[in-house]
Amino acid sequence: MALVKISRGTDIQHKYTDGVSRVSVLEGAYKDATVERVSLQPGADFTPETYTREQHNQVFLVTAGKGYIVTPRRVFNIKEVSVFVPDFDKETFTFHCAADAKETMEIVHFVTELNDYDKTCLREAHMSLPRFRGVSEAWHYKEDFTGADIQQMMMLEHRNLGRLSMGANFGTGPNYIGQHIHNELEQWYIMLPGASFTYTAEEEKIHVQGGDITYTPHGSHHGSECADGEKFAYVWFELCENGYPGEIK
Ligand SMILES: [Fe+2]
Repeated sequence: MALVKISRGTDIQHKYTDGVSRVSVLEGAYKDATVERVSLQPGADFTPETYTREQHNQVFLVTAGKGYIVTPRRVFNIKEVSVFVPDFDKETFTFHCAADAKETMEIVHFVTELNDYDKTCLREAHMSLPRFRGVSEAWHYKEDFTGADIQQMMMLEHRNLGRLSMGANFGTGPNYIGQHIHNELEQWYIMLPGASFTYTAEEEKIHVQGGDITYTPHGSHHGSECADGEKFAYVWFELCENGYPGEIK
């Protein structure tokens, strides 16, 4: 069986009801996370279910489209690739695709199980919620196994949201993200519009493009190469299987 599970963007057929389409993907790939693709037509609203901090955590990644998220207190404008983490069931929130948008709003929605580590973190110390961050607002980091001009952006800091974290990598080919391993991290890649590169995990080599989503289990060597004329543009989302060692506070 393949190590890497993949949902190809080109395989998705949206069926809209009141301007909203929801398609589950990567079903059964990893026990503690479900993934769905949500697409909103111009003018459509989407109000997701909320969960208590004893039930589930959830993370929304907007990969394309313009509009806003509204809560009873605030509005977050969506102008670029952005992440949103609600404050559990504290307040409702609604995604709105701008009525004059030229394209649909595309969202990847993760719902994760909470283990004891998550529940402790979410009670004792975590980032303030709701969290909204556009990719241009993310702070930059650098891993030594990546090409010199690869841009690496932090969207959800490790250790600050229980087991979850998220970031993004950008670069133009020819370029590389060298082989490395995460012994504890379950990892999803969400390929952004315009992306085109080759992802290698252990013996598997997969060409991916904008719209694809992959899942790679922890403990797998992986890396990526992008050829001349290709582009790195993807978001990684990670779940640390047993939580991070050391102090939570
Ligand atoms: Fe990695």
